[in-house]
Amino acid sequence: MINRKYPSTRLRRLRQSKTIRDLVAENTVSSNDLIEPMFLVNSKSDAGPVNSMPGVERFEKDQLFREIEESIKHGIKAFAIFPVVPSDLKDESGSYALSADNFLINFLREFSERYPDVISIADVALDPYTSHGHDGILANDIVLNDETNELLGKQAVLLADAGASIVAPSDMMDGRIGVIRSALDANKNKDTIILSYAAKFASSFYGPFRDAVGSKTNLAGASKKTYQMDVRNSDEALHEVAIDVDEGADIVMIKPGMPYLDIISKVKEKFQMPTFAYQVSGEYSMLSNAISQGLLDKSVMLESIVSLKRAGSDAVLTYAAKQIAKEIKDE
Ligand code: PBG
Repeated sequence: MINRKYPSTRLRRLRQSKTIRDLVAENTVSSNDLIEPMFLVNSKSDAGPVNSMPGVERFEKDQLFREIEESIKHGIKAFAIFPVVPSDLKDESGSYALSADNFLINFLREFSERYPDVISIADVALDPYTSHGHDGILANDIVLNDETNELLGKQAVLLADAGASIVAPSDMMDGRIGVIRSALDANKNKDTIILSYAAKFASSFYGPFRDAVGSKTNLAGASKKTYQMDVRNSDEALHEVAIDVDEGADIVMIKPGMPYLDIISKVKEKFQMPTFAYQVSGEYSMLSNAISQGLLDKSVMLESIVSLKRAGSDAVLTYAAKQIAKEIKDE
């Protein structure tokens, strides 16, 4: 045992200057670690700011391509595209999700042609498409597991066929990773990557996102607690991850991020799998609001991403991706 004793040991020696701090830093954030989630609308008239998410907008196709172009210039190489489906296209079974030329599918097709080297991530879940706002189909107000899985398998194949580099099941049905992997493999998509929202908690931090895609109104106060994880549990998160890995997940994700650092850390330690964290809408809005009101310095945003990386995430989905990429470049 080394005798770590003051005054021979002084930890402040390695904090004297930025250069030495940078040399001994254990974690860094670069634009390689950032994934930018974005909202796509079908027409210009549906475009505009998301009130509950400062600085975040819903864009129609051409505007979104311009935004993506700008983010690529700042070094972002991965985007998660969420559709905001007009209410007249939503129904009980979310059938628009399986329409082969829906506006998300068309967008992804163009995206993969324009940017073959950029990663596009598409959620596999029905909630943007259902009139009740749930991630699956319902019978007597219960979200049906196996019947939903079948639709998710089909949805994943459509997204992969359209050119999505990664499909990301965010629905939390049991067994969906296996069903989706088999469906992809049976349809010549064996190289499509599955990013599993493996430990997704039934969190109130998703509020602003539901606002952005309109599912908040559709949900009308209903909760997702019968399929998303109980926020009080952590052993269960490891169980979820183990199952998803066995079923074929290539990357596992924990969501939300900052309130769940303990889960990220345990998952990384136990599975040593590629592990992502999602800094969700509520976390983003909380920090952005505090920054814009002058309550906190803008550096808290980067600090929050560093903390996710330190906990064990290899990459982070964050609405602040572009802003952080710029900040890092200017440093
Ligand atoms: C849909 C989905 C949600 C988010 C990502 N995919 C919302 C939900 O589960 O209700 C949340 C993202 C965020 O809050 O930023 N399955």
